[in-house]
Amino acid sequence: MEDTTTNKQISSPTTTVAALRLFFHDYFVDGYDTSILVSSTRFSKSERGYPGFSNRKGSGIGIPDSLPRVQGHGYRIHCRNIASMTSKPVRNQSFAMINCDDISYFKKILGERGVVLEEEKLDDANTDWMRKFKGSSKLMLQPRSTQEVSQILDYCNSRRLAVVPQGGNTGLVGGSVPVFDEVIINVSSMNNTISFDKDSGILVCEAGCILENLISFLDNEGYIMPLDLGAKGSCQIGGNVSTNAGACALFDTRTFLSGISGLEVVLANGTVLDMLGTLRKDNTGYDLKHLFIGSEGSLGIVTKVSILTPPKLSSVNLAFLACEDYTSCQKLLSEAKRKLGEILSAFEFLDINAMDLVLKHLDGLRNPLPSAKHNFYILIETTGSMESHDKEKLESFLLQSMENGLLNDGVLAQDVNQASSFWRIREGIPEALMKAGAVYKYDLSLPPEKMYNLVEEMRERLGTAANVVAYGHLGDGNLHLNISTRQYNDSILSKIEPFVYEWTSEQRGSISAEHGLGLMKANKIHYSKSAETVQLMAAIKKLLDPNGILNPYKVLPTSILSQSGVDEP
Ligand code: FAD
Ligand code: MLT
Ligand code: ZN
Repeated sequence: MEDTTTNKQISSPTTTVAALRLFFHDYFVDGYDTSILVSSTRFSKSERGYPGFSNRKGSGIGIPDSLPRVQGHGYRIHCRNIASMTSKPVRNQSFAMINCDDISYFKKILGERGVVLEEEKLDDANTDWMRKFKGSSKLMLQPRSTQEVSQILDYCNSRRLAVVPQGGNTGLVGGSVPVFDEVIINVSSMNNTISFDKDSGILVCEAGCILENLISFLDNEGYIMPLDLGAKGSCQIGGNVSTNAGACALFDTRTFLSGISGLEVVLANGTVLDMLGTLRKDNTGYDLKHLFIGSEGSLGIVTKVSILTPPKLSSVNLAFLACEDYTSCQKLLSEAKRKLGEILSAFEFLDINAMDLVLKHLDGLRNPLPSAKHNFYILIETTGSMESHDKEKLESFLLQSMENGLLNDGVLAQDVNQASSFWRIREGIPEALMKAGAVYKYDLSLPPEKMYNLVEEMRERLGTAANVVAYGHLGDGNLHLNISTRQYNDSILSKIEPFVYEWTSEQRGSISAEHGLGLMKANKIHYSKSAETVQLMAAIKKLLDPNGILNPYKVLPTSILSQSGVDEP
Protein backbone atom coordinates (compact mmCIF):
# COMPACT_ATOMS: atom_id res chain seq x y z
CA MET A 1 0.00 0.00 0.00
CA GLU A 2 2.85 2.33 0.89
CA ASP A 3 4.47 1.70 -2.51
CA THR A 4 1.22 2.30 -4.35
CA THR A 5 0.59 5.55 -2.49
CA THR A 6 4.17 6.73 -3.05
CA ASN A 7 3.99 5.97 -6.76
CA LYS A 8 0.66 7.68 -7.11
CA GLN A 9 2.01 10.72 -5.29
CA ILE A 10 5.01 10.88 -7.62
CA SER A 11 2.93 10.55 -10.76
CA SER A 12 0.21 12.88 -9.51
CA PRO A 13 1.44 15.34 -6.90
CA THR A 14 -2.08 16.38 -5.94
CA THR A 15 -2.75 13.00 -4.35
CA THR A 16 -1.98 14.11 -0.81
CA VAL A 17 -4.24 17.10 -1.13
CA ALA A 18 -7.05 15.04 -2.57
CA ALA A 19 -6.68 12.36 0.11
CA LEU A 20 -6.73 14.93 2.87
CA ARG A 21 -9.78 16.56 1.42
CA LEU A 22 -11.51 13.22 1.05
CA PHE A 23 -10.75 12.31 4.64
CA PHE A 24 -11.89 15.59 6.07
CA HIS A 25 -15.00 15.72 3.98
CA ASP A 26 -16.16 12.63 5.84
CA TYR A 27 -15.92 14.64 8.99
CA PHE A 28 -16.97 18.02 7.74
CA VAL A 29 -20.22 17.40 5.98
CA ASP A 30 -21.44 20.21 3.84
CA GLY A 31 -18.02 21.23 2.68
CA TYR A 32 -16.55 22.38 5.94
CA ASP A 33 -13.06 23.56 5.45
CA THR A 34 -10.09 21.86 7.02
CA SER A 35 -7.82 24.82 6.44
CA ILE A 36 -9.69 26.71 9.15
CA LEU A 37 -8.05 24.35 11.60
CA VAL A 38 -4.67 25.59 10.58
CA SER A 39 -4.92 29.37 10.63
CA SER A 40 -7.47 32.13 10.57
CA THR A 41 -7.70 34.40 7.61
CA ARG A 42 -9.83 37.46 7.22
CA PHE A 43 -12.21 35.28 5.25
CA SER A 44 -12.48 32.27 7.53
CA LYS A 45 -11.88 31.79 11.21
CA SER A 46 -9.60 29.00 12.37
CA GLU A 47 -10.24 26.64 15.21
CA ARG A 48 -7.43 28.38 17.02
CA GLY A 49 -8.76 31.82 16.24
CA TYR A 50 -12.19 31.07 17.66
CA PRO A 51 -12.44 32.59 21.15
CA GLY A 52 -14.47 29.73 22.63
CA PHE A 53 -11.84 27.08 22.06
CA SER A 54 -9.62 25.94 24.87
CA ASN A 55 -6.79 25.02 22.52
CA ARG A 56 -6.96 28.37 20.76
CA LYS A 57 -3.27 29.07 21.23
CA GLY A 58 -2.34 25.56 20.20
CA SER A 59 -1.72 24.22 16.76
CA GLY A 60 -5.27 23.47 15.74
CA ILE A 61 -5.41 19.91 17.04
CA GLY A 62 -8.54 18.45 18.53
CA ILE A 63 -10.50 18.64 15.33
CA PRO A 64 -13.36 16.21 16.00
CA ASP A 65 -14.02 17.48 19.54
CA SER A 66 -14.29 21.05 18.47
CA LEU A 67 -16.37 20.47 15.38
CA PRO A 68 -19.81 20.61 16.98
CA ARG A 69 -18.92 23.89 18.59
CA VAL A 70 -17.89 25.38 15.28
CA GLN A 71 -21.16 24.25 13.81
CA GLY A 72 -23.05 25.32 16.91
CA HIS A 73 -21.85 28.86 16.45
CA GLY A 74 -22.88 28.90 12.85
CA TYR A 75 -19.58 29.70 11.23
CA ARG A 76 -19.77 29.55 7.47
CA ILE A 77 -16.57 27.89 6.47
CA HIS A 78 -15.47 27.60 2.89
CA CYS A 79 -14.10 24.46 1.37
CA ARG A 80 -10.41 24.87 0.73
CA ASN A 81 -7.25 22.87 1.18
CA ILE A 82 -5.42 22.13 4.34
CA ALA A 83 -2.43 21.20 2.22
CA SER A 84 -2.39 24.53 0.45
CA MET A 85 -1.65 26.14 3.78
CA THR A 86 0.99 23.76 4.93
CA SER A 87 2.78 21.79 2.22
CA LYS A 88 6.02 22.42 0.35
CA PRO A 89 5.87 21.82 -3.42
CA VAL A 90 6.89 18.59 -5.03
CA ARG A 91 8.14 18.56 -8.61
CA ASN A 92 5.25 18.30 -11.02
CA GLN A 93 6.05 15.13 -12.93
CA SER A 94 3.98 16.24 -15.89
CA PHE A 95 6.83 18.59 -16.81
CA ALA A 96 9.44 17.16 -19.14
CA MET A 97 13.18 17.20 -18.40
CA ILE A 98 15.50 18.91 -20.88
CA ASN A 99 17.42 16.68 -23.28
CA CYS A 100 20.06 17.10 -26.01
CA ASP A 101 17.46 17.75 -28.69
CA ASP A 102 16.07 20.65 -26.68
CA ILE A 103 19.54 22.18 -26.31
CA SER A 104 20.18 21.80 -30.05
CA TYR A 105 16.87 23.46 -30.85
CA PHE A 106 17.58 26.40 -28.56
CA LYS A 107 21.08 26.81 -30.01
CA LYS A 108 19.56 26.87 -33.46
CA ILE A 109 17.20 29.75 -32.63
CA LEU A 110 19.37 31.70 -30.16
CA GLY A 111 22.90 30.83 -31.22
CA GLU A 112 25.56 29.56 -28.78
CA ARG A 113 25.57 32.92 -26.96
CA GLY A 114 21.95 32.70 -25.93
CA VAL A 115 22.20 29.21 -24.41
CA VAL A 116 23.93 29.15 -21.02
CA LEU A 117 25.07 25.80 -19.67
CA GLU A 118 28.11 26.85 -17.58
CA GLU A 119 27.80 25.81 -13.96
CA GLU A 120 29.01 29.07 -12.46
CA LYS A 121 26.56 31.24 -14.39
CA LEU A 122 23.76 28.78 -13.69
CA ASP A 123 24.60 28.81 -10.03
CA ASP A 124 24.07 32.59 -9.89
CA ALA A 125 20.84 32.38 -11.87
CA ASN A 126 19.55 29.54 -9.67
CA THR A 127 20.12 31.51 -6.46
CA ASP A 128 18.05 34.47 -5.33
CA TRP A 129 19.38 37.79 -3.98
CA MET A 130 18.86 36.70 -0.37
CA ARG A 131 20.60 33.36 -1.04
CA LYS A 132 17.56 31.74 0.54
CA PHE A 133 15.84 30.16 -2.46
CA LYS A 134 17.83 27.88 -4.74
CA GLY A 135 16.81 25.91 -7.79
CA SER A 136 18.70 23.37 -9.85
CA SER A 137 18.10 24.44 -13.43
CA LYS A 138 20.57 23.11 -15.96
CA LEU A 139 19.71 25.65 -18.64
CA MET A 140 19.39 29.40 -18.96
CA LEU A 141 18.22 31.02 -22.19
CA GLN A 142 18.99 34.64 -23.07
CA PRO A 143 16.75 35.78 -25.93
CA ARG A 144 17.50 39.06 -27.71
CA SER A 145 14.11 39.78 -29.26
CA THR A 146 10.39 39.27 -28.76
CA GLN A 147 10.44 36.85 -31.66
CA GLU A 148 13.02 34.70 -29.86
CA VAL A 149 10.98 34.75 -26.62
CA SER A 150 7.97 33.67 -28.65
CA GLN A 151 9.84 30.78 -30.28
CA ILE A 152 11.20 29.62 -26.90
CA LEU A 153 7.78 29.62 -25.25
CA ASP A 154 6.05 27.98 -28.17
CA TYR A 155 8.62 25.17 -27.99
CA CYS A 156 8.59 24.85 -24.19
CA ASN A 157 4.80 24.75 -24.14
CA SER A 158 4.60 21.99 -26.70
CA ARG A 159 7.36 20.03 -24.91
CA ARG A 160 5.89 20.82 -21.45
CA LEU A 161 9.14 22.29 -20.27
CA ALA A 162 8.51 24.51 -17.25
CA VAL A 163 10.16 27.95 -17.33
CA VAL A 164 11.05 30.81 -14.97
CA PRO A 165 11.10 34.32 -16.39
CA GLN A 166 14.00 36.23 -14.86
CA GLY A 167 15.08 39.86 -14.93
CA GLY A 168 17.67 41.28 -12.54
CA ASN A 169 17.03 38.53 -9.97
CA THR A 170 16.57 41.00 -7.11
CA GLY A 171 13.13 39.68 -6.13
CA LEU A 172 12.66 39.00 -2.41
CA VAL A 173 10.05 36.22 -2.40
CA GLY A 174 11.76 33.42 -4.32
CA GLY A 175 9.83 34.16 -7.54
CA SER A 176 12.77 34.75 -9.86
CA VAL A 177 14.61 31.46 -9.45
CA PRO A 178 13.58 27.90 -10.31
CA VAL A 179 12.19 25.64 -7.62
CA PHE A 180 13.41 22.52 -9.39
CA ASP A 181 14.86 22.25 -12.90
CA GLU A 182 12.74 24.85 -14.72
CA VAL A 183 14.41 26.50 -17.71
CA ILE A 184 15.46 30.07 -16.83
CA ILE A 185 14.49 32.64 -19.45
CA ASN A 186 16.55 35.69 -18.65
CA VAL A 187 15.66 38.83 -20.60
CA SER A 188 18.77 40.89 -19.67
CA SER A 189 19.94 40.98 -23.31
CA MET A 190 16.75 42.75 -24.36
CA ASN A 191 17.92 46.11 -23.07
CA ASN A 192 17.28 48.69 -25.78
CA THR A 193 15.48 51.97 -25.39
CA ILE A 194 13.10 52.03 -28.34
CA SER A 195 11.71 55.55 -28.33
CA PHE A 196 11.23 58.61 -26.19
CA ASP A 197 8.70 61.31 -27.01
CA LYS A 198 9.94 64.61 -25.60
CA ASP A 199 6.50 66.18 -25.70
CA SER A 200 4.40 63.48 -24.06
CA GLY A 201 7.20 62.02 -21.91
CA ILE A 202 6.35 58.50 -23.10
CA LEU A 203 9.27 56.12 -23.01
CA VAL A 204 9.15 52.78 -24.82
CA CYS A 205 11.85 50.26 -23.98
CA GLU A 206 12.65 46.58 -23.82
CA ALA A 207 11.99 44.61 -20.64
CA GLY A 208 15.66 43.98 -19.83
CA CYS A 209 16.57 47.66 -19.39
CA ILE A 210 18.13 48.21 -15.98
CA LEU A 211 16.08 50.66 -13.92
CA GLU A 212 19.06 52.88 -13.05
CA ASN A 213 19.96 53.27 -16.74
CA LEU A 214 16.42 54.39 -17.50
CA ILE A 215 16.53 56.84 -14.58
CA SER A 216 19.75 58.41 -15.95
CA PHE A 217 18.45 58.43 -19.52
CA LEU A 218 15.31 60.29 -18.45
CA ASP A 219 17.23 62.63 -16.18
CA ASN A 220 19.25 63.79 -19.21
CA GLU A 221 16.02 64.38 -21.07
CA GLY A 222 14.53 66.45 -18.23
CA TYR A 223 12.07 63.76 -17.13
CA ILE A 224 11.85 61.36 -14.20
CA MET A 225 11.10 57.67 -13.96
CA PRO A 226 8.09 57.18 -11.66
CA LEU A 227 9.99 54.45 -9.80
CA ASP A 228 13.16 54.44 -7.76
CA LEU A 229 14.29 51.69 -5.43
CA GLY A 230 17.34 50.34 -3.64
CA ALA A 231 17.90 47.58 -6.21
CA LYS A 232 17.86 50.03 -9.16
CA GLY A 233 21.42 49.11 -10.21
CA SER A 234 20.33 45.52 -11.00
CA CYS A 235 16.55 45.25 -11.30
CA GLN A 236 15.00 45.56 -14.73
CA ILE A 237 11.90 47.31 -15.94
CA GLY A 238 10.26 44.00 -16.98
CA GLY A 239 10.85 42.69 -13.45
CA ASN A 240 9.52 45.94 -11.96
CA VAL A 241 6.34 45.62 -14.01
CA SER A 242 5.97 41.92 -13.23
CA THR A 243 6.23 42.55 -9.49
CA ASN A 244 4.33 45.85 -9.64
CA ALA A 245 7.20 47.29 -7.63
CA GLY A 246 6.59 50.05 -5.12
CA ALA A 247 9.12 52.63 -4.12
CA CYS A 248 10.21 55.14 -1.53
CA ALA A 249 9.63 58.35 -3.41
CA LEU A 250 6.03 57.86 -4.40
CA PHE A 251 2.65 59.35 -3.68
CA ASP A 252 -0.71 58.88 -5.34
CA THR A 253 -0.66 60.15 -8.91
CA ARG A 254 3.05 59.61 -9.43
CA THR A 255 2.89 55.86 -8.90
CA PHE A 256 4.66 53.47 -11.21
CA LEU A 257 1.40 51.62 -11.83
CA SER A 258 -0.37 54.70 -13.12
CA GLY A 259 2.68 55.44 -15.29
CA ILE A 260 2.59 52.15 -17.22
CA SER A 261 0.78 53.00 -20.42
CA GLY A 262 1.37 49.83 -22.37
CA LEU A 263 3.03 46.43 -22.51
CA GLU A 264 4.10 43.83 -24.99
CA VAL A 265 3.77 40.34 -23.55
CA VAL A 266 4.45 36.85 -24.86
CA LEU A 267 1.97 34.23 -23.69
CA ALA A 268 2.84 30.66 -22.71
CA ASN A 269 2.03 29.34 -26.20
CA GLY A 270 4.25 31.93 -27.89
CA THR A 271 1.48 34.34 -28.91
CA VAL A 272 2.70 37.94 -28.86
CA LEU A 273 0.21 40.40 -27.32
CA ASP A 274 0.90 43.91 -28.54
CA MET A 275 -0.66 46.22 -25.95
CA LEU A 276 2.10 48.77 -26.30
CA GLY A 277 -0.18 51.77 -26.42
CA THR A 278 1.40 55.17 -26.16
CA LEU A 279 -1.90 56.99 -25.82
CA ARG A 280 -2.81 58.74 -22.61
CA LYS A 281 -6.42 57.59 -22.96
CA ASP A 282 -7.69 54.35 -24.46
CA ASN A 283 -10.95 52.76 -23.36
CA THR A 284 -11.40 50.06 -25.97
CA GLY A 285 -12.40 46.91 -24.12
CA TYR A 286 -10.74 45.37 -21.11
CA ASP A 287 -7.44 46.91 -20.05
CA LEU A 288 -5.57 43.62 -20.25
CA LYS A 289 -2.15 44.99 -19.40
CA HIS A 290 -3.23 45.09 -15.77
CA LEU A 291 -3.40 41.30 -15.73
CA PHE A 292 0.32 41.14 -16.31
CA ILE A 293 1.35 43.93 -13.95
CA GLY A 294 2.26 42.16 -10.72
CA SER A 295 1.64 38.67 -12.12
CA GLU A 296 5.24 37.67 -11.32
CA GLY A 297 5.91 35.87 -14.58
CA SER A 298 3.00 33.47 -14.10
CA LEU A 299 0.84 34.68 -17.02
CA GLY A 300 3.33 35.77 -19.67
CA ILE A 301 6.77 37.22 -20.33
CA VAL A 302 6.88 41.00 -20.55
CA THR A 303 9.09 41.96 -23.49
CA LYS A 304 8.43 45.70 -23.92
CA VAL A 305 7.08 48.44 -21.72
CA SER A 306 5.81 51.94 -22.40
CA ILE A 307 5.82 54.39 -19.52
CA LEU A 308 4.36 57.83 -19.12
CA THR A 309 7.10 59.78 -17.34
CA PRO A 310 6.52 63.12 -15.60
CA PRO A 311 8.78 66.13 -16.24
CA LYS A 312 11.60 66.66 -13.77
CA LEU A 313 10.74 69.31 -11.23
CA SER A 314 13.44 71.75 -10.20
CA SER A 315 13.00 71.73 -6.49
CA VAL A 316 13.60 68.61 -4.41
CA ASN A 317 14.17 68.83 -0.65
CA LEU A 318 14.97 66.07 1.79
CA ALA A 319 14.86 66.13 5.59
CA PHE A 320 16.24 63.48 7.95
CA LEU A 321 14.27 63.62 11.19
CA ALA A 322 14.01 61.96 14.59
CA CYS A 323 10.92 61.13 16.63
CA GLU A 324 10.61 59.89 20.18
CA ASP A 325 7.83 57.36 19.61
CA TYR A 326 5.76 55.75 16.89
CA THR A 327 2.67 57.83 17.64
CA SER A 328 4.67 60.96 16.83
CA CYS A 329 5.72 59.43 13.48
CA GLN A 330 2.10 58.81 12.68
CA LYS A 331 0.95 62.26 13.71
CA LEU A 332 3.80 63.75 11.72
CA LEU A 333 2.55 61.87 8.65
CA SER A 334 -0.97 63.21 8.91
CA GLU A 335 0.33 66.73 9.54
CA ALA A 336 2.71 66.43 6.58
CA LYS A 337 -0.13 65.37 4.28
CA ARG A 338 -2.19 68.31 5.45
CA LYS A 339 0.50 70.98 5.50
CA LEU A 340 2.79 69.97 2.64
CA GLY A 341 0.00 68.76 0.36
CA GLU A 342 0.95 68.17 -3.24
CA ILE A 343 4.70 68.67 -2.78
CA LEU A 344 5.05 65.76 -0.32
CA SER A 345 6.71 63.04 -2.39
CA ALA A 346 8.04 60.57 0.21
CA PHE A 347 7.51 59.71 3.85
CA GLU A 348 9.73 56.86 5.01
CA PHE A 349 10.46 55.53 8.47
CA LEU A 350 13.06 53.34 10.14
CA ASP A 351 13.30 52.37 13.76
CA ILE A 352 16.39 52.45 15.94
CA ASN A 353 17.15 48.77 15.28
CA ALA A 354 17.25 49.46 11.54
CA MET A 355 19.45 52.52 12.06
CA ASP A 356 21.89 50.64 14.29
CA LEU A 357 22.09 47.80 11.80
CA VAL A 358 22.89 50.07 8.86
CA LEU A 359 25.54 52.00 10.77
CA LYS A 360 27.12 48.75 11.94
CA HIS A 361 27.21 46.91 8.62
CA LEU A 362 27.53 49.47 5.84
CA ASP A 363 30.81 51.30 5.24
CA GLY A 364 31.05 55.05 4.89
CA LEU A 365 27.71 55.93 6.44
CA ARG A 366 27.30 58.27 9.37
CA ASN A 367 24.33 59.18 11.49
CA PRO A 368 23.03 62.60 10.32
CA LEU A 369 21.71 63.22 13.85
CA PRO A 370 24.60 62.04 16.03
CA SER A 371 24.01 64.09 19.19
CA ALA A 372 21.54 61.60 20.71
CA LYS A 373 19.94 58.21 20.03
CA HIS A 374 16.35 58.32 18.86
CA ASN A 375 13.75 55.59 18.68
CA PHE A 376 12.49 56.47 15.18
CA TYR A 377 13.88 58.20 12.12
CA ILE A 378 11.84 59.70 9.29
CA LEU A 379 12.74 60.88 5.81
CA ILE A 380 10.48 63.49 4.31
CA GLU A 381 10.99 64.47 0.69
CA THR A 382 9.20 67.25 -1.15
CA THR A 383 9.16 67.71 -4.92
CA GLY A 384 7.86 70.82 -6.62
CA SER A 385 8.62 73.58 -9.03
CA MET A 386 8.99 76.64 -6.80
CA GLU A 387 12.36 76.41 -5.16
CA SER A 388 12.23 79.04 -2.42
CA HIS A 389 8.53 78.54 -1.73
CA ASP A 390 8.85 74.74 -1.39
CA LYS A 391 11.85 75.03 0.91
CA GLU A 392 10.18 77.63 3.08
CA LYS A 393 7.06 75.50 3.29
CA LEU A 394 9.06 72.48 4.43
CA GLU A 395 11.14 74.50 6.90
CA SER A 396 8.14 76.09 8.50
CA PHE A 397 6.42 72.69 8.76
CA LEU A 398 9.49 71.23 10.47
CA LEU A 399 9.79 74.16 12.85
CA GLN A 400 6.17 73.85 13.84
CA SER A 401 6.51 70.10 14.33
CA MET A 402 9.56 70.69 16.51
CA GLU A 403 7.65 73.24 18.61
CA ASN A 404 4.64 71.03 19.15
CA GLY A 405 6.85 68.14 20.21
CA LEU A 406 6.36 65.77 17.26
CA LEU A 407 10.00 66.03 16.28
CA ASN A 408 13.03 65.58 18.50
CA ASP A 409 15.64 66.62 15.99
CA GLY A 410 16.16 67.00 12.26
CA VAL A 411 18.41 68.16 9.45
CA LEU A 412 17.77 69.31 5.88
CA ALA A 413 20.05 68.00 3.14
CA GLN A 414 22.20 70.88 1.92
CA ASP A 415 23.01 69.43 -1.48
CA VAL A 416 22.46 66.43 -3.74
CA ASN A 417 25.34 64.49 -2.20
CA GLN A 418 24.00 64.89 1.29
CA ALA A 419 20.53 63.91 0.08
CA SER A 420 21.88 60.73 -1.47
CA SER A 421 23.75 59.89 1.74
CA PHE A 422 20.45 60.22 3.64
CA TRP A 423 18.70 57.98 1.11
CA ARG A 424 21.57 55.49 1.35
CA ILE A 425 20.76 54.97 5.03
CA ARG A 426 17.16 54.05 4.25
CA GLU A 427 17.84 52.12 1.05
CA GLY A 428 20.84 50.32 2.56
CA ILE A 429 18.76 48.46 5.18
CA PRO A 430 18.11 45.32 3.04
CA GLU A 431 21.85 45.04 2.33
CA ALA A 432 22.74 45.56 6.02
CA LEU A 433 20.26 42.83 6.97
CA MET A 434 21.96 40.42 4.59
CA LYS A 435 25.34 41.22 6.14
CA ALA A 436 23.93 40.57 9.62
CA GLY A 437 23.06 36.93 8.81
CA ALA A 438 19.74 35.27 8.09
CA VAL A 439 16.57 37.30 7.65
CA TYR A 440 12.86 36.50 7.72
CA LYS A 441 11.29 39.20 5.57
CA TYR A 442 7.66 40.35 5.72
CA ASP A 443 6.23 43.05 3.51
CA LEU A 444 2.86 44.08 4.88
CA SER A 445 0.16 46.64 4.16
CA LEU A 446 -1.41 47.65 7.45
CA PRO A 447 -3.37 50.55 8.86
CA PRO A 448 -0.56 52.93 9.90
CA GLU A 449 -2.00 53.34 13.41
CA LYS A 450 -1.72 49.59 14.07
CA MET A 451 1.50 48.90 12.22
CA TYR A 452 4.03 49.20 15.00
CA ASN A 453 1.93 47.14 17.44
CA LEU A 454 2.87 44.13 15.36
CA VAL A 455 6.57 44.95 15.65
CA GLU A 456 6.28 45.21 19.42
CA GLU A 457 4.28 42.00 19.72
CA MET A 458 6.85 40.23 17.59
CA ARG A 459 9.65 41.48 19.85
CA GLU A 460 7.77 40.12 22.85
CA ARG A 461 7.28 36.73 21.18
CA LEU A 462 10.90 36.35 20.14
CA GLY A 463 12.68 37.87 23.13
CA THR A 464 16.44 37.84 22.68
CA ALA A 465 16.36 35.11 20.04
CA ALA A 466 16.21 37.60 17.16
CA ASN A 467 16.58 41.24 16.23
CA VAL A 468 13.23 42.59 15.05
CA VAL A 469 13.88 45.41 12.60
CA ALA A 470 11.19 47.69 11.18
CA TYR A 471 11.20 50.22 8.37
CA GLY A 472 9.05 51.03 5.40
CA HIS A 473 6.97 53.31 3.31
CA LEU A 474 4.83 54.80 6.07
CA GLY A 475 3.18 57.16 3.61
CA ASP A 476 1.82 54.10 1.78
CA GLY A 477 0.96 52.08 4.93
CA ASN A 478 3.67 49.59 4.00
CA LEU A 479 5.64 48.00 6.84
CA HIS A 480 8.82 46.02 6.16
CA LEU A 481 9.09 43.75 9.18
CA ASN A 482 12.42 41.94 9.16
CA ILE A 483 13.53 39.39 11.70
CA SER A 484 17.27 39.08 11.74
CA THR A 485 19.00 36.04 13.19
CA ARG A 486 22.43 34.47 12.88
CA GLN A 487 21.05 31.57 10.89
CA TYR A 488 17.71 30.17 9.78
CA ASN A 489 16.05 28.24 12.54
CA ASP A 490 12.73 26.37 12.46
CA SER A 491 11.87 27.09 16.05
CA ILE A 492 12.11 30.85 15.42
CA LEU A 493 10.12 30.50 12.22
CA SER A 494 7.35 28.70 14.08
CA LYS A 495 7.05 31.67 16.44
CA ILE A 496 6.77 34.07 13.51
CA GLU A 497 4.42 32.18 11.19
CA PRO A 498 1.49 31.87 10.96
CA PHE A 499 1.22 34.55 13.67
CA VAL A 500 2.39 37.33 11.36
CA TYR A 501 -0.09 36.37 8.62
CA GLU A 502 -3.00 35.92 11.03
CA TRP A 503 -2.29 39.25 12.65
CA THR A 504 -2.22 40.96 9.26
CA SER A 505 -5.37 39.24 8.08
CA GLU A 506 -7.22 40.27 11.24
CA GLN A 507 -6.38 43.89 10.47
CA ARG A 508 -7.62 43.41 6.89
CA GLY A 509 -4.08 44.05 5.76
CA SER A 510 -2.14 42.56 2.87
CA ILE A 511 0.60 39.96 3.32
CA SER A 512 2.33 41.39 0.28
CA ALA A 513 2.35 45.13 -0.16
CA GLU A 514 4.94 45.29 -2.94
CA HIS A 515 7.28 42.29 -3.17
CA GLY A 516 4.70 39.83 -4.51
CA LEU A 517 3.96 36.28 -3.39
CA GLY A 518 6.56 34.29 -5.33
CA LEU A 519 7.29 30.89 -3.85
CA MET A 520 7.44 32.18 -0.30
CA LYS A 521 3.78 33.15 -0.05
CA ALA A 522 2.00 31.26 -2.84
CA ASN A 523 0.20 29.14 -0.26
CA LYS A 524 -0.56 32.12 1.92
CA ILE A 525 -2.70 34.07 -0.53
CA HIS A 526 -5.85 33.17 1.42
CA TYR A 527 -4.84 35.50 4.20
CA SER A 528 -5.43 38.44 1.90
CA LYS A 529 -7.78 37.26 -0.81
CA SER A 530 -11.14 35.50 -0.70
CA ALA A 531 -11.58 31.96 -2.04
CA GLU A 532 -13.70 33.28 -4.90
CA THR A 533 -10.98 35.73 -5.92
CA VAL A 534 -8.29 33.05 -5.84
CA GLN A 535 -10.50 30.74 -7.91
CA LEU A 536 -10.91 33.44 -10.53
CA MET A 537 -7.15 33.98 -10.58
CA ALA A 538 -6.69 30.23 -11.11
CA ALA A 539 -9.21 30.32 -13.97
CA ILE A 540 -7.28 33.17 -15.62
CA LYS A 541 -4.05 31.22 -15.20
CA LYS A 542 -5.67 28.18 -16.81
CA LEU A 543 -6.89 30.26 -19.73
CA LEU A 544 -3.52 31.88 -20.42
CA ASP A 545 -1.23 29.02 -19.44
CA PRO A 546 -3.20 25.74 -19.53
CA ASN A 547 -0.11 23.59 -19.14
CA GLY A 548 1.11 25.64 -16.21
CA ILE A 549 4.62 26.00 -17.62
CA LEU A 550 5.08 29.65 -16.57
CA ASN A 551 6.74 30.03 -13.19
CA PRO A 552 5.15 26.95 -11.59
CA TYR A 553 4.71 26.64 -7.80
CA LYS A 554 4.61 30.44 -7.49
CA VAL A 555 1.91 33.05 -6.81
CA LEU A 556 -1.12 30.70 -6.49
CA PRO A 557 -1.41 27.55 -4.38
CA THR A 558 -0.47 24.52 -6.49
CA SER A 559 -3.43 22.61 -5.11
CA ILE A 560 -5.89 25.23 -6.35
CA LEU A 561 -4.25 25.26 -9.77
CA SER A 562 -4.55 21.51 -10.09
CA GLN A 563 -8.22 21.66 -9.05
CA SER A 564 -8.69 24.14 -11.88
CA GLY A 565 -7.04 21.75 -14.28
CA VAL A 566 -3.79 23.69 -14.75
CA ASP A 567 -0.83 21.37 -15.48
CA GLU A 568 -2.85 18.18 -15.51
CA PRO A 569 -1.35 15.76 -17.98
P1 FAD B 1 13.39 39.44 -10.84
O1 FAD B 1 13.84 39.40 -9.42
O2 FAD B 1 14.29 38.83 -11.82
O3 FAD B 1 11.95 38.76 -10.94
C1 FAD B 1 10.93 39.10 -10.07
C2 FAD B 1 9.63 38.39 -10.54
O4 FAD B 1 9.24 38.91 -11.80
C3 FAD B 1 9.80 36.90 -10.75
O5 FAD B 1 8.60 36.26 -10.41
C4 FAD B 1 10.08 36.76 -12.23
O6 FAD B 1 9.65 35.52 -12.73
C5 FAD B 1 9.27 37.90 -12.81
N1 FAD B 1 9.86 38.52 -14.00
C6 FAD B 1 11.04 39.16 -14.12
N2 FAD B 1 11.18 39.66 -15.35
C7 FAD B 1 10.06 39.33 -16.03
C8 FAD B 1 9.60 39.57 -17.35
N3 FAD B 1 10.30 40.26 -18.24
N4 FAD B 1 8.39 39.07 -17.70
C9 FAD B 1 7.64 38.38 -16.83
N5 FAD B 1 8.04 38.12 -15.58
C10 FAD B 1 9.23 38.60 -15.18
N6 FAD B 1 10.68 45.97 -4.42
C11 FAD B 1 9.78 46.97 -4.30
O7 FAD B 1 8.65 46.80 -4.72
N7 FAD B 1 10.12 48.17 -3.72
C12 FAD B 1 11.35 48.41 -3.24
O8 FAD B 1 11.62 49.48 -2.73
C13 FAD B 1 12.33 47.38 -3.37
N8 FAD B 1 13.60 47.57 -2.92
C14 FAD B 1 14.49 46.55 -3.04
C15 FAD B 1 15.80 46.77 -2.56
C16 FAD B 1 16.74 45.76 -2.66
C17 FAD B 1 18.14 45.99 -2.15
C18 FAD B 1 16.38 44.51 -3.24
C19 FAD B 1 17.39 43.41 -3.38
C20 FAD B 1 15.10 44.31 -3.71
C21 FAD B 1 14.15 45.31 -3.61
N9 FAD B 1 12.85 45.13 -4.07
C22 FAD B 1 11.94 46.15 -3.96
C23 FAD B 1 12.45 43.86 -4.70
C24 FAD B 1 12.83 43.80 -6.20
O9 FAD B 1 13.88 44.63 -6.50
C25 FAD B 1 11.71 44.22 -7.07
O10 FAD B 1 10.68 43.28 -6.90
C26 FAD B 1 12.04 44.33 -8.56
O11 FAD B 1 10.94 44.92 -9.19
C27 FAD B 1 12.40 43.02 -9.24
O12 FAD B 1 12.95 43.26 -10.52
P2 FAD B 1 13.95 42.22 -11.18
O13 FAD B 1 14.25 42.66 -12.57
O14 FAD B 1 15.13 42.00 -10.32
O15 FAD B 1 13.04 40.93 -11.24
C1 MLT C 1 12.69 48.50 0.70
O1 MLT C 1 11.74 49.26 0.85
O2 MLT C 1 13.82 48.76 1.16
C2 MLT C 1 12.50 47.28 -0.12
O3 MLT C 1 11.17 46.96 -0.33
C3 MLT C 1 13.34 46.11 0.25
C4 MLT C 1 13.07 45.49 1.57
O4 MLT C 1 11.95 45.54 2.06
O5 MLT C 1 13.96 44.90 2.17
ZN1 ZN D 1 9.87 48.62 0.09
